[in-house]
Amino acid sequence: MDIFTAIETRRSIRQYTGEQIDESKIIEALRYAMYAPSAHNSRSWRFILTSNKEHLIKISQIHPYAKMLPNASWAVLFCNDMNAENTEGYAALNVSASVENFLLAIHGMGYGAVWLGIYPRKERMNALKDFFDLPDYLMPIALCSVGVPKLIPPQPDRFEPEKILKIYK
Ligand SMILES: Cc1cc2nc3c(=O)[nH]c(=O)nc-3n(C[C@H](O)[C@H](O)[C@H](O)COP(=O)(O)O)c2cc1C
Repeated sequence: MDIFTAIETRRSIRQYTGEQIDESKIIEALRYAMYAPSAHNSRSWRFILTSNKEHLIKISQIHPYAKMLPNASWAVLFCNDMNAENTEGYAALNVSASVENFLLAIHGMGYGAVWLGIYPRKERMNALKDFFDLPDYLMPIALCSVGVPKLIPPQPDRFEPEKILKIYK
C-alpha cells in the first residue's frame, strides 16, 4: 500500500474478529512509530504493551470510551518520558506524532486500531499510571486498541478546500 492510499483509507477500527496478532507485528508497527518527528529529536515516546485479557477488560472499565478493548488483541499505551523531553511542553505533540505513524503502520499491515484519548484528561492519565504502576517520569498520552478488523467503516471524502484559509504568493 502506498503512503497516500494508507493515509486516505485509514479508519478507526472498533470491531475485531477476536483473532490474535503476533507480538512481532506490534513491535514492527512501533518501529515505524519511532520514525516520527519529535522536537529536538528527543524521541521521548515510550510504550507499554499488553495482550493480557484481564488487562484489556479492566482498562475498558477505566476508560469511558474503550468498550472495544476486551475484543481487541492488544492495547498499546503511548507515554512520554519526562526525563527525555528536552523541549518543555512538547510531550503530547511528540508522542502524538508517533501514534499517527503507528496507526498508519497497523493499517498498512491489514490490521485495525483506534486511538483512545488519555492526555489531557487527568483522571485517565492517573488511572492508567496506577494501573501499570508507572514511575512519575512516565506520562500516559494515548492508548491504542489493536485487532483484526471485523468491520471497516466506509471511506469518507475529507478534503475541505474551504479550510485552507489563505494562500500568499
Ligand atoms: C486525541 C484523540 C482521542 C480519541 N479518543 C477516542 C476514544 O476515546 N474512543 C474512541 O472510540 N475513539 C477515539 N478517537 C478516535 C476518533 O473518534 C476518530 O479518529 C474520529 O472519529 C475520526 O474517525 P477515523 O479515525 O475513522 O478517521 C480519538 C482520536 C483522537 C485523535
